[in-house]
Amino acid sequence: MSAVKIDGRKVSAEIKDELISSVKDLKEKGINPTLAVVLVGNDPASQVYVKHKKKACEYVGIRSLAYELDENTSEDELLKLVNELNTRDDVHGILVQLPLPKHIDEEKILLAIDPSKDVDGFHPYSVGNLSIGRDGFVSCTPAGIIELIKRYNIEIEGKNCVVIGRSNIVGKPVSMLLLRENGTVTICHSRTKNIKEICKQADILVVAIGRANFVTKDFIKEGATVIDVGMNRLDNGKLCGDVSYDECATIAGAITPVPGGVGPMTIAMLMNNCVKSAGKCLT
Ligand code: GUN
Repeated sequence: MSAVKIDGRKVSAEIKDELISSVKDLKEKGINPTLAVVLVGNDPASQVYVKHKKKACEYVGIRSLAYELDENTSEDELLKLVNELNTRDDVHGILVQLPLPKHIDEEKILLAIDPSKDVDGFHPYSVGNLSIGRDGFVSCTPAGIIELIKRYNIEIEGKNCVVIGRSNIVGKPVSMLLLRENGTVTICHSRTKNIKEICKQADILVVAIGRANFVTKDFIKEGATVIDVGMNRLDNGKLCGDVSYDECATIAGAITPVPGGVGPMTIAMLMNNCVKSAGKCLT
C-alpha cells in the first residue's frame, strides 16, 4: 500500500483562490488589504522568499508595499520604519523578513511590530495568545500544517501527535495548535531518548528537525499521517525533507512531499492572515 500524497501546492492554490473573493468583498466595502514587506540587505534566499510573497499578494489582490533597504540600515532607521507602518491606517500587515543583518537585534524589531499587524505571528503577544487559546495571529507554517491536515479530512482530536523539533517558528507553535485541536501531543528534540519508539506511536507525526532523511520507515506507524517540514539542500543541489519519503510512503497513510508539501502553505497562510487583519477594520 502506498500513502496518499498530501498536495500542498493544490491546497495552497485553493486557499489563495478563496481569498481572491474575500479580498474583493473587502474592496467593495472600501478596504484595500495591504501588506508591508520589509527586506534589509541582500540575502539571496530572503530575496527569493520576498519575491514569492509579493507575487502571491498580486495574485490574491492584496496591495504590497515593498521596502528594500540597504544592508547598512541602522537598527534605529528600521525601528522608525516599523513605527511608521504601525501608525498607518492603510497598512494591515507588517512583515520583516528574517534573518536581519547581524548588527540589528531581531527580537527588538519583532517586538516593535504592532501585534494587530503581526501577520507573521512572531510577536510574543501572538505567541502568548496561541498558548492560552485566545484568538490572534498564528505563524504561517504551523497554521499551514493544520490546514493541510484538515483539508485532507484527517482527524486530530484524540490522536497521538508527535512533533520532532522545538523551534519557536515551527515545533512549539504546531504543538500548541495540535493541542488546541484536542490531539495528545508529545514533543521530541535532540535530547529525547527512544525517539524512534515514541514516533512509532504517532497517528500524526510532524517532523521539523532540519536533518535530511532523518525519519526512516522504522519510525512510522502503519497508516500514520507524516508531515515533513524539512527543507534541506543536498550536495547535488536537490531539495530534500527531514523524512525519507519513498520508504515512509510504503507504511504511512498520508505523507507530504518535499518540495510541494508544507512549503507552499506558508505563503497561503500569510495571505490569509493579511485578509484577516484587513477584515478587522470592519468590526
Ligand atoms: N525567513 C524565513 N521564513 C520566514 C518567515 O516566515 N517570515 C519572516 N519574516 N522571515 C522568514
